[in-house]
Amino acid sequence: MRRRTLRWLLVFPLLCLTPESQAGDEGLAAVKSLAEQFAPQVVAWRRDLHAHPELSNREQRTAQTVAEILREIGITDVRTGVARHGVVALIHGNRATPVIALRADMDALPVQEATGLPFASQNPGVMHACGHDAHTSMLLGTAKVLFELRESLPGSVKLIFQPAEEGTPPGEEGGAALMIKEGVLREPEVGAIFGLHVAPDLPTGQVAYRAGGMLASVDRFRVAVRGKQSHAAMPWQGADPIVAAAHVITAVHTIASHRVDARQPVVISIGIIRGGQAWNIIPEQVVLEGTARTHDKTVRDRVAELFRTVVEQTAAAHGTQAEIEFSDYGPPVWNDPELVARMKPTLARVVGEANAVESPPVMVGEDFAHYGQQIPGMFVFLGVRNEAVGAVHPLHTPQFVLDEAALSVGIRTLSQLAIDWLTRTAGEPAP
Ligand code: NI
Repeated sequence: MRRRTLRWLLVFPLLCLTPESQAGDEGLAAVKSLAEQFAPQVVAWRRDLHAHPELSNREQRTAQTVAEILREIGITDVRTGVARHGVVALIHGNRATPVIALRADMDALPVQEATGLPFASQNPGVMHACGHDAHTSMLLGTAKVLFELRESLPGSVKLIFQPAEEGTPPGEEGGAALMIKEGVLREPEVGAIFGLHVAPDLPTGQVAYRAGGMLASVDRFRVAVRGKQSHAAMPWQGADPIVAAAHVITAVHTIASHRVDARQPVVISIGIIRGGQAWNIIPEQVVLEGTARTHDKTVRDRVAELFRTVVEQTAAAHGTQAEIEFSDYGPPVWNDPELVARMKPTLARVVGEANAVESPPVMVGEDFAHYGQQIPGMFVFLGVRNEAVGAVHPLHTPQFVLDEAALSVGIRTLSQLAIDWLTRTAGEPAP
C-alpha cells in the first residue's frame, strides 16, 4: 500500500515535464488507487459513526472520533471545539497557499431507525437518516488520500467537519453560520469551498452539479391566530380562530400558485396546526407552523411580504388577529457559476462524462449555503441509489440505506476537486 504511493510521489516531479493531460491522468490514477485502497477502512469508519449517531450540537463522540482518526492519519494541525463540536484540520502541501476547503456535516436526526442493518443505530430515536455519517467518513478518507499526496499538493487543504447542519436546539447557535463566525474561513484564508450530499434518487457512480441556485432558501414561520373563546353552540359570541386558520391555510397556498411568477420555484408548507381543548368549545387561539422555500432572493423577499399581508388580512376578515414570526433560516445554496464551469471537467474525469449529470434545482435546503455567501462554493450530489442493496428509500426516513460502494466515488470526487482547484489556482500545469 505504502510502496505504491511512494512510487507515485517519486514520479510526480517528473510529471511537470510531461504534457499536461498525461500529468492529470497519472494524478487521477493515483487518487483512484488510494481511494480504492482505503475504501474498506472508510466503510468501517462509516459503520461505527452510523451505530453511534448524535443530534445537532451534541456531536461529542463523533467529533472525538474524527479528531483521533485525523491524528492517526498523521495530520498534526487539528483544531477541535470550533462552533461547539466542529473539527477543523489543515493539510499542508508543498506550499502554504492557495487554500481550498472541503466540508462535511456530522449530525444525525431524531428518527427511530428501521433498516435492520447489523450496524444500525445504538441510540434509540436517533439515526443517521441524512447520510452525514457517509459525508464525515468520506471526508476522513479524502484526508487520508490528500495526506498521502501532500508533497505534490500546490497549496493547503482545510478540512471542515461541521456540527448542527440539521438545525440547532432552541436558543442555541450552531452549524455553518457559527463556524464562519468563529473564523473557519480565515487563518489561513480559504479561496473556495466544496461539499457534497448523498442522493438516494441518483444511482451509485453518478455525481450531479448545478450552476447557480441548487438547493432552496429555507424560511420558517409561526402564525398565532388569536380569536375570542366561545361556546361551540354560539360562535357569534366569540371570534373563531379555527375557521380563520382554515382560511389562512388555503389563502397562503395561493401565494405559490397565483401570486409569484409560475416559472419561479416556490413551496409553502404547513407542518403543524395546534389549537383547541374540547369538542364543544371554540378556542382562543390556533397556532400554525411551517416553511417557505425559494431559489431567488427577489422571489424570497416577495413571498415573505405576501405571506404577511395575506395572513394578516385573511385573519382580520374573520374577526381574528394574526401574530406572525417569519424567520430567515438559511439562504439558497448558490453554486458559483464560474467555479462550476471550471470544475465540471474534473467531475467528468472522475466519474466519466455520462455520469456527471446536471441536477435540477431542489427544494430542500442545506446550511452549506452560508459558506457560499462568503466565498465561491460548489456543492454536488453523490449518487447512492442501488436497488440490489435496498438503497432506494428517501433521506430523513427510518428506512434510509445508502450504497457503500459510493463512498470511494465520493472520496475521489472530493480529492480530485481539491487537487485540480489547487493546481489551477497555483498556476501549475492544468490537470
Ligand atoms: Ni443532510
